[in-house]
Amino acid sequence: MQIKINCEKPYSVFINELDTIELNSKVAIVTNDRVAPLHLEDFLKRLKVKEYGVIIVKDGEKYKNFETLNYILDECFKLKLDRKSYLIALGGGVIGDMTGFGASIYQRGIEFIQVPTTLLSMVDASVGGKTGINNKYGKNLIGSFWQPKVVYCQTDFLQTLPKREFSAGVAEIVKMAVTFDKDFFEWLEINSLYEEENLQYAIKKSIQIKADVVSKDEREAGIRAVLNYGHTFCHVIENETEYRRYLHGEAVSIGMNMANRLALKLGLLKNEELKRVEKLLKSYDLPISYKVNSSEKFYESFMLDKKSFNKKVKFILPDSIGGFSMRDDIEKSLVLSVLDEFND
Ligand code: NAD
Ligand code: GLY
Repeated sequence: MQIKINCEKPYSVFINELDTIELNSKVAIVTNDRVAPLHLEDFLKRLKVKEYGVIIVKDGEKYKNFETLNYILDECFKLKLDRKSYLIALGGGVIGDMTGFGASIYQRGIEFIQVPTTLLSMVDASVGGKTGINNKYGKNLIGSFWQPKVVYCQTDFLQTLPKREFSAGVAEIVKMAVTFDKDFFEWLEINSLYEEENLQYAIKKSIQIKADVVSKDEREAGIRAVLNYGHTFCHVIENETEYRRYLHGEAVSIGMNMANRLALKLGLLKNEELKRVEKLLKSYDLPISYKVNSSEKFYESFMLDKKSFNKKVKFILPDSIGGFSMRDDIEKSLVLSVLDEFND
């Protein structure tokens, strides 16, 4: 199955169609010390390239930083990669984001290929060309838009993925459905993603939604911001909990519930719709609650969000199920009243 991304530099996402990667170039595979023992050997069998090297970094969001990026770039130089060389990201969103960023600045930019190995990176992170790293001021605050040459999603990688990580990916699938596709949401309510056929369908649907959005707005001047539904809250939660307590998708799940409660207060979402989203998230054991210690402090942290501008916070809210609303005019007191509801 092939999905085309029609951005400035078009490319394709293939689902379960990776046979071999043939390139008349030098290649460096970037992966981590958790994925490498599980999948590297098999992956290398699929590679027919001029010459390759492997760059293995430490696993974890906390290593998505300048130090690791610098290590990747150093290794690229040691491998004598040239401007025709490729990087291949073999891993989840952390590896994909860092490899893409490295590719975008190595010798002013070389090609890279995404081979996502988590559900979250298949349905979201590997597609669309957002790359980057975190720093002490927040998540993904340093990065670039750099589209991959091609993306290969292979669902067999997911056989080794822990259930919790799988659910984190489901959160991003729910995100796409709630904001863009009512039928898909209704389909998710009755079809289990633990079944391979359903999973492949949901991956395809999610990528199609993302492909459509990215094709319309590659650099997030407008509609692409909708893909950040739940993320305004999620990023504050991840920061407050120092990226330790929740997986990214779990924090997105809580963030969507917070956004939904705000949408409810604004009359954009009905209580019955809010409950249906809650039920779907809970059916994959995703968290939807969080203890907000200080609503004021939480609100102040919104200012670090890349969507905040001129002290205005932009909220992406569902407008019924399958629709969205982008709002930067919401009274602070209303937002605080939603945050006050989160006390466990
Ligand atoms: P991740 O990359 O940390 O992967 C999650 C865990 O699963 C890691 O421990 C990883 O080593 C392990 N893993 C990966 N593949 C595995 C497999 N097949 N079997 C067993 N374990 C495996 O996290 P993620 O959830 O994939 O991605 C989250 C990251 O993606 C965040 O940094 C987030 O900011 C970023 N992200 C980027 C975009 C984007 O558009 N660029 C979108 C969403 C998220
Ligand atoms: N994950 C949000 C985006 O790609 O824009």
